[in-house]
Amino acid sequence: MPEFILEAKNLKKEFGGVLAVNNVSFNVSRCEIFAIIGPNGAGKTTLFNLITGVYVLDGGTLHFDGALLARTAPYERAARGLARTFQNLQLFSNMTVLENVLVGRHTKSKAGLVGAALRLPGMRREEKLVHAQAMQCLEKVGLTGRAGQMVGNLSFGQQRLVEIARAMATEPQLLLLDEPGAGLQRKDVEELDNLIRQLREGGMTIILVEHNMELVMGIADRVMVLDYGTKIADGTPLQVQQNEKVIAAYLGAEDFTAMPAGADDVASK
Ligand SMILES: Nc1ncnc2c1ncn2[C@@H]1O[C@H](COP(=O)(O)OP(=O)(O)OP(=O)(O)O)[C@@H](O)[C@H]1O
Ligand SMILES: [Mg+2]
Repeated sequence: MPEFILEAKNLKKEFGGVLAVNNVSFNVSRCEIFAIIGPNGAGKTTLFNLITGVYVLDGGTLHFDGALLARTAPYERAARGLARTFQNLQLFSNMTVLENVLVGRHTKSKAGLVGAALRLPGMRREEKLVHAQAMQCLEKVGLTGRAGQMVGNLSFGQQRLVEIARAMATEPQLLLLDEPGAGLQRKDVEELDNLIRQLREGGMTIILVEHNMELVMGIADRVMVLDYGTKIADGTPLQVQQNEKVIAAYLGAEDFTAMPAGADDVASK
């Protein structure tokens, strides 16, 4: 088994002359909670898009679970155990909470959407299992009672949790969370914190992009800091908080609790 679940070497992505990701290298160990932080526009979401195959690399290499991800399509990466949530929620608002989670699960099911739609006999058993598993994911995020509701009727914070449940339903080895704490109330952030820890205990590796420094510094094993597409630091939460380049990138904030982008701030973007 390869030592690292993800190895990123000299990753590069350019948009019209702007280097959104500039020669970034890092390795993520199994069952690690690895946080990526940095000011707005630092390249965090672009990095997620490179890892999941939404964007093609302009340079560098990615290995997932020991295998090179070159032009591997996003769905193929998902099937190999890579899942993500989106900074801007990507839910189907005219579908129920459960149906949204099932969409995630169908990347995994043998029947697929066609088999399920045709309701072939052999598929029904699988459908039941898939349904039960989706409900388990909802239970983990505390939303079983909402399973039958239209997702658009849920609060923003609850929709974020549905998005996480959908990613969990694919049973990923590596889960990328893009600002899961944005717009959440303090109590919901605590639940999110618990959920992430539980997922890790269950054997998942997590890469967390997040502006809520209290959450990041409390939960991450290691933190990588990006600024203008470049990696400026990595280390333990304590090491990065004391790093001068990092402090400067955050406009000289005296400490990380004073950092600007709080949950409300991010939600209004
Ligand atoms: N599809 C795109 N086309 C052109 N420019 C892009 C595209 N995606 C990202 N960028 C640019 O790349 C840079 C990095 O953006 P990115 O969204 O990755 O930042 P981020 O760190 O996720 O920021 P935030 O904290 O605001 O979410 C920015 O300058 C952004 O404008
Ligand atoms: Mg982003």
